[in-house]
Amino acid sequence: MVASTGSGEREGWSSRSAFILAAVGAAVGLGNVWRFPTLAGESGGGAFVLFYVACVFLLGLPLVISEIFIGRTGQDDAVGSIRKVAKQSGASGSWSLFGFLGVLAAFLILSFYSVVAGWVLYYVGVMGADFLGAIMAGDPFRGALLGESQEAVSGRMGELFANPMLLLSMHFAFMGLTLFIVARGIGSGIEAAATILMPMFFVLLVGITVYGAFVGDMTEALAFLFTPDWSKLTPQVMNTALGQALFSLSLGVAGLITYGSYIKGPSGLGSTSVTIAFADTGVALLSGLMIFPIVFAVGLDPAAGPTLVFQTLPFAFQTMPAGALIGLLFFVLILVAAVTSSISLLEVPVAWGIGEMGWSRRTSSLVFGGGAFLIGIACLLGYNVWSDVRLLGFWPLFAETDILDTVDGFTGKVMLPLGAFFTAIFVGWKADRRLVKEMTGLSGVWLSLWRFLIAWLCPLAVGTILITGLFPQILG
Ligand code: PHE
Repeated sequence: MVASTGSGEREGWSSRSAFILAAVGAAVGLGNVWRFPTLAGESGGGAFVLFYVACVFLLGLPLVISEIFIGRTGQDDAVGSIRKVAKQSGASGSWSLFGFLGVLAAFLILSFYSVVAGWVLYYVGVMGADFLGAIMAGDPFRGALLGESQEAVSGRMGELFANPMLLLSMHFAFMGLTLFIVARGIGSGIEAAATILMPMFFVLLVGITVYGAFVGDMTEALAFLFTPDWSKLTPQVMNTALGQALFSLSLGVAGLITYGSYIKGPSGLGSTSVTIAFADTGVALLSGLMIFPIVFAVGLDPAAGPTLVFQTLPFAFQTMPAGALIGLLFFVLILVAAVTSSISLLEVPVAWGIGEMGWSRRTSSLVFGGGAFLIGIACLLGYNVWSDVRLLGFWPLFAETDILDTVDGFTGKVMLPLGAFFTAIFVGWKADRRLVKEMTGLSGVWLSLWRFLIAWLCPLAVGTILITGLFPQILG
């Protein structure tokens, strides 16, 4: 312990590429592989996808730079980092309140994220057992879940949802794994996990997409994903697309502030951020190109909603060559993506507990991992025992949604845009300009462009979309 500074050496990434890998791991998750195809399917494809991509590059990317800037400069948890940047800029320390909003959002997102990842875990089990059966029967390249009717295959999800104990044990296992990794710390926990899991993820993603291109209907998938029907771009769809862009880039929850605070050396934030935004968006689009050819090949409905991946796809794998094997790999891929994201969600409050409350990493991990686990239980009970509960039932937007969808919708549509809005105002208007220039490494026209986007476009666009999305009656 270094007595003179009062605090021990803070942990950090071993290299710049380690940070990028971990940040891409945080960004690429259920949001890309499950939520993006689901929303694109529900929202009618092309127009949603193009508006989404615009949100990523015009609003998301400048925010990625801003969050990493705050963390890299502050070298502290989200709240502490904002406080330090505010101090160095002569701004009020109360700006750190939006950091707290982010910490809260990350904690809430983690609670339902782990429940959904638990479904994935269950399907890894189902498909794993099925594939094992295929091997034992001497036919490893057969389709998945052979001999089961479509009702039986889809019915598995209903069976899972009706079974609180099963949901609970999956949720428990996933949260336990997340907690285990985060408790080990930045280097031997988070960085080690990302170094092993991310390459595995990319190999699987490319492999299954190529497979889908051969056995599926790629032409129809391309048309569906990239031909815009602008009449489908309603304010709600825009709100959804923006929320999804923020969610997918892990923005508005102080995730990148926290990860950025573990960068030690100098770093060109511009190129780092571009890498993260491109990787995340590339994976979302590739996931669409992995899933929809398979969906269309068997004539299934792309607008199936949240069950698309869980009910629609397993049935598609039934009739595909080597469906048992590919089906298993597909769910392993989603699980891998979910783990590298859930650890970043947990790291945000854990870093806050360490930095602001003075807890040990282990205590903080237990408190927040355990807390999110408990809230997650309410989410999963919302599918069975508490299916009538409407948490925000007084609010028309959430009048119909179960507990999990309410937590998901409230964090995604309200908390993340708010967090993004304040980040933009803070970095665009309050942060010291010389500090920003020095720490981001941006200069010339890129600096001016980024300044314009973060100071003007982000607050205006995020603010407008937030208000019109939440109160659609404004537009009549
Ligand atoms: N970006 C992650 C995903 O797409 C989710 C996430 C949100 C992770 C916020 C960290 C912080 O799945």
